[in-house]
Amino acid sequence: MVSKEMIADIKNSINIVEVIGEVVALTKAGRNFLGLCPFHGEKTPSFNVVEDKQFYHCFGCGKSGDVFKFLEDYRGITFMDAVLVLAERIGIPIEIEQTHASTPKNPHQDLYDIHTEAAKFYHAVLMTTTMGEEAKAYLHQRGLTDDVIQHFQIGLAPKGNSYLYQSVAEKFREDTLMDSGLFNIADNNAVFDAFQNRIMFPLQDDTGRVIAFSGRIWQDKDSDAKGAKYKNSRSTPIFNKSYELYHLDKAKAVMKKQHEVYLMEGFMDVIAAYRAGIENAVASMGTALTREHVQHLGRFTKKVVLTYDGDKAGQAATAKALAELEDMTVEIVKIPNQMDPDEFIQKNSLEDLQDLLTKTRISKIEFLMQHLRPENIENLQAQISFVDQMASLIAKVNSITAQNSYIYKLADLLPDFDYQQIEQAVNQTRLLNRQQQQETTQQSPVLTLPVSKQTSRLIKAESHLLQRMVDYPMILNDYRLREDFQFATPEFESIYQLLKQNGEITPQDLSLQEEAVQQAWYRVLEENLPREVGERELEEVETIREKELLRKESQMISKTIREASHSGDQDQALAELERLIAQKRRME
Ligand code: GTP
Ligand code: MN
Repeated sequence: MVSKEMIADIKNSINIVEVIGEVVALTKAGRNFLGLCPFHGEKTPSFNVVEDKQFYHCFGCGKSGDVFKFLEDYRGITFMDAVLVLAERIGIPIEIEQTHASTPKNPHQDLYDIHTEAAKFYHAVLMTTTMGEEAKAYLHQRGLTDDVIQHFQIGLAPKGNSYLYQSVAEKFREDTLMDSGLFNIADNNAVFDAFQNRIMFPLQDDTGRVIAFSGRIWQDKDSDAKGAKYKNSRSTPIFNKSYELYHLDKAKAVMKKQHEVYLMEGFMDVIAAYRAGIENAVASMGTALTREHVQHLGRFTKKVVLTYDGDKAGQAATAKALAELEDMTVEIVKIPNQMDPDEFIQKNSLEDLQDLLTKTRISKIEFLMQHLRPENIENLQAQISFVDQMASLIAKVNSITAQNSYIYKLADLLPDFDYQQIEQAVNQTRLLNRQQQQETTQQSPVLTLPVSKQTSRLIKAESHLLQRMVDYPMILNDYRLREDFQFATPEFESIYQLLKQNGEITPQDLSLQEEAVQQAWYRVLEENLPREVGERELEEVETIREKELLRKESQMISKTIREASHSGDQDQALAELERLIAQKRRME
């Protein structure tokens, strides 16, 4: 553990402008620095670094944080790692307590060990036996050199009942052997290898430990007999296929550097990308992309380049993946002629694949414009529903320039619509979205927190109050004594509780809070208040706050009245109306 004093020291010895300035081009704008936000794609700068308060805030995507948070998000590392990186930068030696002696052994260590052992075994069978020779020739013929085979630690499960079992049975406990998923039991109680006569692709977790395998049939005479082309390990205590991604352990370093990852369908596609010099590609284990996968990737980068197969199934999978990838920046590579990346390499060259992956990406909207485009485009009804679908997508795009070009493209596709008509549809959806947003805002003001322009009076008042508490312990104390006092905005209330507990908000405390709370904290810091607290300042702020709370409540009552009279419940409508009138009196 690093002490909080140490963390404060590190933060004080570092200028956030320098740290961010190394990766984002910043220009001075008044008291702050401005640049292109590294967390969302943008063409006009809205990423603001506030030097005197040592934090950043993006008006486009709402992200904000201090220097630690920046490194966490930018490099996909933990808070503690960010502390260590910065400590190293300023030359403060930090001793990480080595607790080797007391570190309990991982409860699944034996399962990791048996997988490491099995991977070595399969690899050795492929590389050094006569049995392996033919399989190796198959891989060579598919374009894999020995270096590539080595990098991916590809192996061969020998043909035969129990070669692996015989090789490892002595070294592991019975329950480890059974839990590993590498063996099955026959009716006569004999143990046999789960994988036989398959090319073996080891799957490693993101720290590089082998945790499962996928085996591919490779001899024609086997293809009909054994069914499935690929066979995966069953799930075990160390293998969850909805979370793990093939090649992530080796891809992650490059992902952090290039701030993106290629997501592909198959192992052979990831290998093809690697052969073409692209090391930041991963694949799921033959399953659709899950939320867990996305969260896993999100620890290393926020941008995904979807590179699924060019066939119908691949394109449908892309559309489905887009829904899971809502919070990420996404680009799509379409592989021509229904091919997958591996087939593309066979038909073209390694350079061609590299060009395809790096230079021919389209945006999510462009993809959906092609994907959702109706077959019977002459049909007016089909055009109308297509325009509706696209308009709601285009309305969400931040950049006006991009919106315009999408509208043009769409108009080009459709015989019965021109630019103006589509623009109108987009504007209508935007209005509708905004109305809906305002409605949800009234229920939970927090949703708008990051976008300071839209801040409601209530949030403004509470944020004002909270900043005074942060800066003046006396004020904090006064409120502490008012036991019934609490913030209406849940995020501010969390900060207030922390503040009451510790008297301050340290970067580390903050890093443990939910994202929304962290954002709220910077909302507070951003408040530019005069140094001196005015004589009646707090009273005035509190009056505003109370008024807003009452107003919110009467809005809620009005809504219940509307709903009650809608559903014909006149009694309730009347009762609520009385409440409302009483409420209005109090507000005067
Ligand atoms: P190659 O045929 O060797 O080029 O592999 P591929 O990646 O082109 O295979 P395909 O596009 O058919 O499948 C993509 C991925 O889906 C594979 O890498 C596997 O993870 C998975 N997959 C394919 N077939 C099967 C199967 O029969 N069973 C299971 N469990 N997974 C499969
Ligand atoms: Mn393939």
